[in-house]
Amino acid sequence: MNRRHFLASSGLLGLGIHCGSLARGGSEQETSQNLLGSFSCTENQVAIYTHAQVKPTRIFHITDTHLSLDDERGVKYLEYSKRMANAYKSNRHFQTGEAFSAEESFEQTLDLAIKQEVDFLALTGDIFSFPSRAAVEWALEKLTDTGIPFAYVAGNHDWHYEGMAGSAHQLRDTWCSKHLKPMYQGNKPLYATYDLNGIRFVCIDNSTYEIEPEQLAFFKTHTRNDRPLILLMHIPLYMPGRSLGFGCANPNWGESSDRNFRIERREKWRAGGHTRVTLEFYDEVFNASNLLTVLAGHTHRHTLDIKNGVPQLVSAHNAAGYYLDVNIATLHV
Ligand SMILES: [Fe+2]
Repeated sequence: MNRRHFLASSGLLGLGIHCGSLARGGSEQETSQNLLGSFSCTENQVAIYTHAQVKPTRIFHITDTHLSLDDERGVKYLEYSKRMANAYKSNRHFQTGEAFSAEESFEQTLDLAIKQEVDFLALTGDIFSFPSRAAVEWALEKLTDTGIPFAYVAGNHDWHYEGMAGSAHQLRDTWCSKHLKPMYQGNKPLYATYDLNGIRFVCIDNSTYEIEPEQLAFFKTHTRNDRPLILLMHIPLYMPGRSLGFGCANPNWGESSDRNFRIERREKWRAGGHTRVTLEFYDEVFNASNLLTVLAGHTHRHTLDIKNGVPQLVSAHNAAGYYLDVNIATLHV
């Protein structure tokens, strides 16, 4: 339903009333209705109601599984994979406290998705602890077996062989187009859309903490229209009061605040802070009248923030069995 139709059917056309229940500021947004009608979150259950016409849709948001299985093809990369190959080996389930592996966690989450007839799987990075061919093949087979459509965007570990020469941008370009390629199902690694039931899922790879000009231009072509969006990224967007893990567009991000570059054996974050492009992307996200929510990972903690009427949900890590169960439907009141 477009804004004019909504206003006419709700009897508010002559009153000049702005109907977005979670109003977004800015003069440009006042010309179009916010598509987010209501939003609620109870533990890992999320309900989103939109003013747009959508088919009721259930998605599982899965992030940070940190799969590290490998085979003989990974032997020549052991020097670069050894630290992360030993991380997340013993996990405790977030509900039962039971001990199990990251692989078991991923399988259990997918089994639940099948049982509960989930419509879509949103994978927001660090599904892998390093770009292991064996892990990618294993995960892809498991995902394909579910028969559920999915979208994948990389996290900072998916493409990172620690200690390998090259900048973050170079390593991401190399390993996303080599070992991780099948996860993109023919789409571009840096940005892509997936449409389902009247909802558009927009993937933006911000696993370097930054946004590239072509990603900003792409995102802008999908905002401020009548198609409801869900934005999938790995690194959460900056929220005042949150940690540096909310690093994309964070004013404190940069060379002087990078504490982990030695442990992760990578180049230090760039000096000079975030670029104008990343900051412009940030503003675009929090002024997008058709954006229902941002789904991110990276911090391994479940959090919810709302900025300018736009929710940002961060899921805890699937290595511990966590996932978000997100239900989207049209608001009929
Ligand atoms: Fe992670």
